[in-house]
Amino acid sequence: MSTDPASLYSRKNPFPARHTVNRLLSGSASQKETRHHEISLAGSGLVYEVGDSLGVFASNDPLLVQELLTTLGASGEETVTSHDGVLKSLREVLWKDYIITTPSKEFLAAIVAKAGTEAEEIALLTGDATKKKELESYLWGREVIDFLLSYPRMRWTPEEFVKTLRKLQPRLYSIASSQKAVGEAVHLTIATVRYETFGRRRNGVASTFFADRTPPEIAVPVFVHTAKHFRLPEDPTTPVIMVGPGTGVAPFRAYLQERKALGGHGKNWLFFGEQRRDSDFLYQSELLGMQEEGTLNRLDLAFSRDQTEKVYVQHRMKEASSELFAWLEEGAHFFVCGDGERMAKDVDAELHAIVQREKGCSVEEAAEYVDALKKSKRYKKDVY
Ligand SMILES: Cc1cc2nc3c(=O)[nH]c(=O)nc-3n(C[C@H](O)[C@H](O)[C@H](O)COP(=O)(O)OP(=O)(O)OC[C@H]3O[C@@H](n4cnc5c(N)ncnc54)[C@H](O)[C@@H]3O)c2cc1C
Ligand SMILES: NC(=O)c1ccc[n+]([C@@H]2O[C@H](COP(=O)([O-])OP(=O)(O)OC[C@H]3O[C@@H](n4cnc5c(N)ncnc54)[C@H](OP(=O)(O)O)[C@@H]3O)[C@@H](O)[C@H]2O)c1
Repeated sequence: MSTDPASLYSRKNPFPARHTVNRLLSGSASQKETRHHEISLAGSGLVYEVGDSLGVFASNDPLLVQELLTTLGASGEETVTSHDGVLKSLREVLWKDYIITTPSKEFLAAIVAKAGTEAEEIALLTGDATKKKELESYLWGREVIDFLLSYPRMRWTPEEFVKTLRKLQPRLYSIASSQKAVGEAVHLTIATVRYETFGRRRNGVASTFFADRTPPEIAVPVFVHTAKHFRLPEDPTTPVIMVGPGTGVAPFRAYLQERKALGGHGKNWLFFGEQRRDSDFLYQSELLGMQEEGTLNRLDLAFSRDQTEKVYVQHRMKEASSELFAWLEEGAHFFVCGDGERMAKDVDAELHAIVQREKGCSVEEAAEYVDALKKSKRYKKDVY
């Protein structure tokens, strides 16, 4: 916890914060919905450093809670024991305490036990450890409500239903601000998760909590999650290279605010990518402004869908190969944030290729060079 000793607040005792700003960053023509959010920490004593994340205990969508209650034939006033041992109404625990979207193993086992041969497919997939992939693909896009609607005659007592659910976990968001610039506030950059599967609209819990359900009068329980592995270099004159496509730009906005507040001595280079320049250039005017004033020495952009062939941040790295390597040789720290499934791996592969090309060395020597960067804490990732 990166907390002022005077602060009472932590993950165990989150601060009831106010959500003060909720602004759409992506344009109306975008295929995405990425938002800038601001949270007030006034009165909390909470402090953070750039690179840290904000933890958020979001609650579920009350409309989905109501639909579950109706499908279960419950009023919501029934009392159940929650995971914290406290007696609460069924409505409250489904709203705040449990995962009511992704089905748990226990929930699927209860379906199989109650439905018998009617749930043969689920029984086959859940009962055979070698069918893990098939089970994953069967469950993709299916939520608890889908199963309840598929077996309308199935009877559940409130306690029995709740026992099959898992505890709702907090979500983390990279902090997109420096306290040196914004004081007792936290800025976040959140891609709102909305999609449709099996004819139903689905909502990511926390991203739509922020987008749709937190007017300023509602308390948002938050805590600071320290990320010691993702700190700026201590010496403000050290150059930094930041690769942050999509919402991965968030911590780098914070770094730039911080480096500017520290006097702007070190060189800063940002690689940013998104789908289209017209609708998805997140923080466009801020970033161009920072470039103009000299805080951002270099900004390389990769708008993947502005041409027939995809162009990604790693392609821009390749184009800037010799200069990027020169920065590394000068002692630059190399940061990556955003998608961990594909982007971070491809960026890592390109970093190896750049070292190999520019040094004129073997694959093994390039790997040693990159390993040395990691060991000396000059190659840092925060990916999700
Ligand atoms: C250290 C860290 C920092 C992070 N920083 C940021 C950040 O700055 N900005 C940001 O936006 N996120 C960030 N994230 C991700 C964030 O924590 C959440 O995971 C994200 O917002 C989704 O949460 P949710 O509750 O809205 O969605 P959930 O309720 O968790 O739903 C997401 C799930 O929905 C399913 N799903 C999603 N799309 C589809 C689809 N098309 N079809 C079928 N199923 C689908 C998948 O199973 C997915 O896992 C970060 C994560 C970590 C760990
Ligand atoms: N757990 C969750 O539910 C959840 C929710 C939100 C985000 N995320 C994760 O967070 C990631 C970030 O989402 P985001 O909205 O910030 O942006 P994103 O999906 O990462 O997209 C940003 C840019 O990166 C491009 N891109 C796609 N594949 C790439 C690759 N292999 N290498 C480099 N760039 C690549 C995209 O191009 P194209 O799209 O044109 O290919 C787009 O231009 C998601 O990919 C996802 O993994 C997870």
